[in-house]
Amino acid sequence: METQVSNGLNLFLRLQDSTRLNELLLVIQQSKERINLALQGLHYVHFARFVPFVPAPGQAYLLVITEFDGDLKPYVMDFAAVIGDEFSAILGFVADPPPLPVQNHPEAFWSFIEANNRSDIPVWSAYPDKTVLDILGPRRAPPPTPADPPPARIDLADVQGNILRGYRARHALHFALAIDDGDGARRFLAALTDGDPAKTPRVSSATVESESPAYLLNIGFTHWGLGTLGVPNDTLQRFPPAFREGPADPQRAWKNGDLEASDPLHWHLGGPGTPAVDLLVSLYTRNAAQLEHRRDQLDALFGACGLRTVSVRRTDALPDGKVHFDYRDSIGQPHIAGAPPRSMEPDMQPAAQAGEFLLGHDYLNQYGGNFIGTLPTELANNGTYAAVRLLEQDVRMFHGLLEDASRRHDVPPDLVAAKLMGRWQNGRALSVSPVDDGGPVTDKQLPRLNRFDFAPTTRHPDVFDDADGARCPVGSHIRRLNPRSALATGKPHSRRIIRRGMAYGPAYDPKNPADTEERGLFGLFICGDLEAQFEFLMQFWVNGDLSAHGLRGTQDPILGTQKMGGRFSFQVDGRTEPVTVQVPRLITTRGSLYLFMPGIGGLRHLAHLPAPTPPRGRSMPNTVTPDAFNPHEAHFIADPYPQYARFRDQAPVHHVRAPEDSYWVFTHALVSEVLQRKDEFLKNPVPVPPANNVTDVVHHLPNGLFFADPPRHGQMREMLDPLFAQAIESAAAVAQPMANQLVEAIRTQGSLELIADYAIKLPLGVFMHVFGVRDEDGPGLAAWINATLAGNDDALPAPLRFQAFTARMAVGSYFQALRAGCPTGERTMLSLMKTVAEHTPPHPMSPEEVQQTAVHFALGGYLSTTFLIATGVFNLLRHSDQLARLRSDPALLDRAIHEMLRYDAPFQLTDRYAANDTTLGKMHLPRGSKVTMVFASANRDETVFPDPDRFDIGREPGPHFSFGGEAIHKCIGKPLVDIVAPIAFRTLLDGLPNLRLAAAPPIWQHDPYFRSFTSLPLLT
Ligand code: HEM
Ligand code: HEM
Repeated sequence: METQVSNGLNLFLRLQDSTRLNELLLVIQQSKERINLALQGLHYVHFARFVPFVPAPGQAYLLVITEFDGDLKPYVMDFAAVIGDEFSAILGFVADPPPLPVQNHPEAFWSFIEANNRSDIPVWSAYPDKTVLDILGPRRAPPPTPADPPPARIDLADVQGNILRGYRARHALHFALAIDDGDGARRFLAALTDGDPAKTPRVSSATVESESPAYLLNIGFTHWGLGTLGVPNDTLQRFPPAFREGPADPQRAWKNGDLEASDPLHWHLGGPGTPAVDLLVSLYTRNAAQLEHRRDQLDALFGACGLRTVSVRRTDALPDGKVHFDYRDSIGQPHIAGAPPRSMEPDMQPAAQAGEFLLGHDYLNQYGGNFIGTLPTELANNGTYAAVRLLEQDVRMFHGLLEDASRRHDVPPDLVAAKLMGRWQNGRALSVSPVDDGGPVTDKQLPRLNRFDFAPTTRHPDVFDDADGARCPVGSHIRRLNPRSALATGKPHSRRIIRRGMAYGPAYDPKNPADTEERGLFGLFICGDLEAQFEFLMQFWVNGDLSAHGLRGTQDPILGTQKMGGRFSFQVDGRTEPVTVQVPRLITTRGSLYLFMPGIGGLRHLAHLPAPTPPRGRSMPNTVTPDAFNPHEAHFIADPYPQYARFRDQAPVHHVRAPEDSYWVFTHALVSEVLQRKDEFLKNPVPVPPANNVTDVVHHLPNGLFFADPPRHGQMREMLDPLFAQAIESAAAVAQPMANQLVEAIRTQGSLELIADYAIKLPLGVFMHVFGVRDEDGPGLAAWINATLAGNDDALPAPLRFQAFTARMAVGSYFQALRAGCPTGERTMLSLMKTVAEHTPPHPMSPEEVQQTAVHFALGGYLSTTFLIATGVFNLLRHSDQLARLRSDPALLDRAIHEMLRYDAPFQLTDRYAANDTTLGKMHLPRGSKVTMVFASANRDETVFPDPDRFDIGREPGPHFSFGGEAIHKCIGKPLVDIVAPIAFRTLLDGLPNLRLAAAPPIWQHDPYFRSFTSLPLLT
């Protein structure tokens, strides 16, 4: 993942009153010096200009042109913090300004910038490929150290203990729980806050009640969990997007570097393929026997309160407070003004403000505002957020790295380890002990391990100036993640984070390097704003191509994805040349949750929430929370149907927010209505947006069948239906031997991953035959189609979507060439279109239309059958009674396929656009609105299908929408599906009489438009 290094912020601001332009220019003139000084402290901006623009009398604009490093949002947020007053003064002149002063409304300021930034204007770069630190060089006068902020008055009894206190616990259990019964869960919270301590465990606060408490207990909730507990919709929406969306959200996962092996699809906790987690209870003790004793007590309480254990993770401190990789941990923590002192002496930075970690109107954060936002104080006061991370560590690989680097570069392995971390494994900082580890750390020395800095400051002028990383590499883990007073991108001394982590899994034994045990770190990363703190660290300081001197093209050696090659350089005392080693990816994310950790008062508030009406004993929230609805959430993807049911009941047409920005239609009746109003709900957006980039170019390709609107659509369809019937005449003769061969190969191989081994190969092979695609082109075409569909999801990061658009163009070019070269007179679909449809009066198709239609056939023509095979087999295996029924009565197969299509529609959703202002249901839709028909929901509409959530292969076939309904765009490929699907199921089930689900949960694919798995391992 590469971060673009120079970016443009171009604001084009209209003045409220054009006659005040000169006054505005004066204000800018007066604040220029302060702005420049502040920007220099941020190390972001290459240049910035304010340009007045008067296009016509009575109109005046101000252009703000900036070229900066890194990503826009952190830049803008830091900007608000350091020059909020100056910016507010300027915005006071502008039409429709954001709420002022901007530093009190940083999120609104961000929205304003996002809306007004003309990111499509290319910036001229004064320093292409350079960064501010490259331009300025690393050495500059030390910045004046800001004074410690005044200590906040923190109500310690109301703050959960693990936020402000390191417990020095040696053991912990983390219970991930799901709520089956909202009343029970509220009773559980009441017991935790006010129960009899002799009978039930109590949640621990930051008040030190005893030097060695028997146990400590803390709790946090996912956004989903808060909804389940009965927090009202209005409140749920007020939480920040990062918490609402969670770490499995594809875009957030991408930012956090959770790619490939770390992809949420593979997580054990919090991923789309794992059960929903509502809350996490963490129990800490100093001795192991206590842990077991309290565990029994807790288990009993969970059972009595309808809390289902989804997973339990045990962690233990390794000797000397170490974690795997053998480093002492939990030394560096922020010193918070007003918090109780730690046993560890504070570092040399100014204290952090309480508001960086705690929510409350009295707690200022690093931007001068407070992170509580508009959340109700009774719920949020003294609360905070935590990113829970389950991080597997590859210890064998780490040892290999040390040994290899040591051998190649003739440096001791423990020095390599120290350079990677910035601390020796015994905890001493390289900054104070640059050449050796200084021997064992005594009890007296231990509290001082955090007294160091990387650069002198006015307060600590004698600190060694390690600007070049001679002692502690600039790219080492601790220096990247807490740059202290050294130069960093962004506001100095910000983005601090509280860490509570311990090792899980057995200690690594170098004598048994090949053991297959999973081991790693279970950590809570606590902060007042997940996006500005935790995610910023992951995206920029860990994985970003950052502008700090000497860091270009590198990532954190411990945590980084190493997608940039894994280079890590350090200097060795007495040598002139730095040593450069190659670092593999050492950490794999195995799970993650974003939690809200309320204060004790907040927990009491939750305990006494009224039960949501109507009360139902389900594991999901019972009422829809329309504005919190996020179709990319893991729980939703794994099982969208309970949500659909609630929408049918409570909000049958609902405007889903960006990136969808669409009116979703959930009931059978309303979906039918949209389909019938075919001249009002079109395939093409109105008005057509201008084409600026690759996305728009693809949207502007000439229309093939799928995207054609009346009357052109009908003209083409009339010609194509009979041609398709001819093209598929030999499909059965091809499909059956192909299926036999695949099943034979599976039997020989003895294992089966259904998707790759069967569900793709069969329909793809048949499609290629029907279209006349040559065998050797199959894999390439399939890869493009895969990339195209994989990028369909609007929630994905822009680079992935762009990749999809380019793949889409490649499919287009392929069919253009194939059409041009395809022989006439063959009974393939392409040949028939070229020879017949292009020449049939009165409305022949153009070559472009043929080419595009071929692309549409390719995109819709085989993967949808793959999806049907995937979910169909899964549903049969999950409902063993239905499978047995089918095996004993094979004549049921046609009905069974109908039911599979109804129960899990392969195309869950499809889009149209409103041609005019109109109404649908009770909703007013402005012209141009996107409308998404939720076929999958209409297929489960209880008013049409009795007992709709039951999978019943003998069900009387009903009017499901899986082929697009009785409408003009109804699937043209259905006759082919009618041939291929029965062959696919019959051959597989007959050939593999013992087919069973494997223990591993299947992995659902991310995109709410489709329903399938990326992988479905089965036992044969
Ligand atoms: C398995 C993964 C990880 C390992 C093995 C690990 C290990 C360590 C160790 C040994 C230290 C030095 C001891 C100390 O200063 O307390 C440290 C410091 C630190 N780590 Fe990690 N860490 C991991 C993941 C993370 C993550 C995910 C983050 C946050 C996004 C993080 C943030 C920090 C910070 C902020 C420091 C303190 C720097 C300071 O204050 O000087 N670490 N880590
Ligand atoms: C189980 C398999 C399939 C399913 C569930 C399915 C589903 C659908 C649906 C829901 C539509 C309507 C989309 C809309 O209204 O926006 C559609 C249209 C279409 N399908 Fe299929 N399809 C399948 C197989 C196929 C096959 C095998 C082909 C071709 C070889 C194909 C080609 C098309 C085409 C070209 C259209 C556009 C028709 C038009 O706009 O007039 N589909 N399909």
